[in-house]
Amino acid sequence: MSPASRRHLLEIADLTRVDAERVLDTARVLERSLDREVKKLPALRGRLVVNLFYESSTRTLSSFELAAKRLSADTMTLRASGSSVDKGESLRDTALTLAAYDPDVVVVRHPQIGAASLVASATEAHVVNAGDGKHQHPTQALLDLFTIREALGRLEGVSVAIVGDVLHSRVARSLVEALRLVDAEPLLVGPPTLLPRGIEEMGCATATSMDAVADVDVVYVLRMQSERMQAGAAFVPSLREYTALYGVTPERVRPGQLVMHPGPMNRGIEIDPRVADSGASLVTTQVRSGLVVRMAVLYDLLTAPGLHVAAAALEVA
Ligand code: CP
Repeated sequence: MSPASRRHLLEIADLTRVDAERVLDTARVLERSLDREVKKLPALRGRLVVNLFYESSTRTLSSFELAAKRLSADTMTLRASGSSVDKGESLRDTALTLAAYDPDVVVVRHPQIGAASLVASATEAHVVNAGDGKHQHPTQALLDLFTIREALGRLEGVSVAIVGDVLHSRVARSLVEALRLVDAEPLLVGPPTLLPRGIEEMGCATATSMDAVADVDVVYVLRMQSERMQAGAAFVPSLREYTALYGVTPERVRPGQLVMHPGPMNRGIEIDPRVADSGASLVTTQVRSGLVVRMAVLYDLLTAPGLHVAAAALEVA
């Protein structure tokens, strides 16, 4: 996050390695609050966090809402559906309208690339990108780093195979950049039609066969993001064939490997239920990480930037 007084988290490129590690360290401190009987902390009392969501969400919206509440901030959630967006109000006018309430943070999810950036130009608030089209989803990448670091005790040198529809995935783009930031080793695996051309320039290897995942530490599974596919375009001959070639089955996961998925999962397509529900799966751990990492992001944006946080400062016993 840039050191200016009004900081945003629009993409992973906004973070230095020190920033990313500071957020993960803060999340680790905050995680201790989850085991307390009273889980609320006073850190952001009197602050306002607005969630502005133009796309469906279960995990991201619920975790930002709960994260703000757990830090004692006020929250307000506006979903495009059922709002005056239905009457044709633009994103900029919606942002200007919400800005009249003086929010401290606006969390934005939108199908258009650059939407969070537009909101940042229209308000005085700190803005967090909660997903813009197939561009970026930086807090997902941070929660994934946190999950991996907690599970393996390190990030440097960890190999992560990201499997499936990389072409339409903001999760993959953010995660590749985040893994590179901490000197981990991303590998993209999928049919050639679902691997973006030139993606190797981002510093990752690619493969078109599942044989390539045999030696990695983490298998990170993506769903087919049909909502972002051009109508009528066919990227695989059939879902059945895709599952046969790229589905993550028990036979394709070796002992000791970890399996992750950002959700929502399409069981039986990209991931076999026997894998999703196995001891190798970190899927629900990722959701729990999402809460503490988003608490850490809100805290980091709104309090002394660049400081490592002591438990006492957060009043975590
Ligand atoms: N991973 C993720 O962004 O999930 P939601 O779409 O449910 O927020």
